[in-house]
Amino acid sequence: MAREYRSADWNDYRMSYHQPHRELEPLEREVAVVDEALGALHAAGVLPHTRYDGERMLAHRRSVRERFEIPWTAITPRMQRLLYAINVIVQPATMIAAGVFCGNTFISNAGAAVGPGACYEAADLIGVEIKPDEAAQAERNVRRIDPTGTARVVADDALNVVAAAGDPIGLLYLDADGAGGRGKGIYLDILEAAMPRMAPGAVVCAHNSVNAGDRLAPYLDFVRDRAHCRASVNVVFDIEGLEVSAL
Ligand SMILES: C[S@@+](CC[C@H](N)C(=O)[O-])C[C@H]1O[C@@H](n2cnc3c(N)ncnc32)[C@H](O)[C@@H]1O
Repeated sequence: MAREYRSADWNDYRMSYHQPHRELEPLEREVAVVDEALGALHAAGVLPHTRYDGERMLAHRRSVRERFEIPWTAITPRMQRLLYAINVIVQPATMIAAGVFCGNTFISNAGAAVGPGACYEAADLIGVEIKPDEAAQAERNVRRIDPTGTARVVADDALNVVAAAGDPIGLLYLDADGAGGRGKGIYLDILEAAMPRMAPGAVVCAHNSVNAGDRLAPYLDFVRDRAHCRASVNVVFDIEGLEVSAL
């Protein structure tokens, strides 16, 4: 049976995609829900612990609000906090995010290691966006937070980038909506292409595990199979959802 964390209010907790920074609930409530989700990930064996620095998370959030241009995003404040915390806990030296659009999802992950929310030293954090204009905007946004280049955006097909990764991938974030009618069905192709390059114990996060759950069924079957992943939990605290799996 699939494991999941589900908050009671997941279907009522809604954002406007064009107001990425609007507060949706008291901060204490957001922290409590994300803590519960982290607790479920820890209990399932996906994460080794649940600790992250809440003040640094808020410093990261402020820097994104001040420096990023975001035409729209489906990343809720809960999801932003969860992605940041997972990266702080996993501390991947190499992280690849597939399908980053304007970079908001990418920096929610990479912000654990670059900019004012940085908590560890990473080697290479790569955001991949297949549309050159969107990749250029994401790269501009990321440069405003990380002048060092540790976090960078490349205009390419994520399938190529994961297959050619030089160093073992410690965390893979999936959010691409493949062309040619494949939609989110491309997640499984990307993960299978990445598998030989994944670090032992690596974590894979897949956005839209709820609102694209049907399209993602083959992907979800794959990561929930113990033959492929040690543990996998569906985090359902907004209408998008995040499947978090550990190899
Ligand atoms: C729906 S957007 C992700 C937006 C994100 N969930 C947010 O809320 O900010 C998906 C992105 O994946 C990109 N994409 C689609 N197929 C891709 C591929 N094969 N490699 C890299 N990027 C891809 C699309 O161009 C698009 O910008």
